[in-house]
Amino acid sequence: MTPNTIAIDGPAASGKSSVGSRVAEALNYLFFDTGLMYRAVTWIALQREVDLADEAAVSKIAEDVPIDVRPPSYADGRACDVLIDDDDITWQCRRPEVDANVSIVAAYPAVRTALSKQQRRIGLRGEVVMVGRDIGTVVLPEADLKVYLDASAEERARRRYDEIVARGEKADYDEILAKVKQRDHVDSTRDVAPLRPADDAVIINTDRLDEDQVYEKIMGLCQ
Ligand code: DC
Repeated sequence: MTPNTIAIDGPAASGKSSVGSRVAEALNYLFFDTGLMYRAVTWIALQREVDLADEAAVSKIAEDVPIDVRPPSYADGRACDVLIDDDDITWQCRRPEVDANVSIVAAYPAVRTALSKQQRRIGLRGEVVMVGRDIGTVVLPEADLKVYLDASAEERARRRYDEIVARGEKADYDEILAKVKQRDHVDSTRDVAPLRPADDAVIINTDRLDEDQVYEKIMGLCQ
């Protein structure tokens, strides 16, 4: 039987979002990229010039601002819409200043509690592919299928580098690698919900697999 809830966790740039959105599309499930919620809180804090070191002020944003992650309304490369009230902040969530600060925000316990609660509510509706860092361990430990996508930092940095260069922009591989390693460190050493595979997750190392192969493997697990 096809799993009703699918959790895909893994480090930054492990390919969770691209593969997860394809799996969701194939199954006609909702694709829910939970990292977007942490990104949205970071973007709002930056917009409001809230000091990101002020844990209470940042947590208040996560508790008070209703963030909606919905199926994409435009075919402009997005996998989900991110809305605050009716404001579309999907692309703002991908800005470099959000990339640089989101790990700090995601490490705050009260931020995690507020966002995990919203994520769990959506996950429990079923027919969903949720991607993140702690879906199989914290948000939806009862997920029917848990996948943990892994890849070396070097390979993930190379993929990010290729993506940027393919867009015609300049990139520095060593700088990207340093950032990937730094985010891994923050995500896996934080006190609350550190990045790790659930005990019953299927671990897929994608170093030598392309996106199609990872997709086929996950679809195979769904059957
Ligand atoms: O997957 P991403 O790069 O969009 O994630 C952004 C940040 O949010 C990253 O620092 C990890 C964190 N995150 C998390 O802690 N838990 C999740 N379920 C999803 C993302």
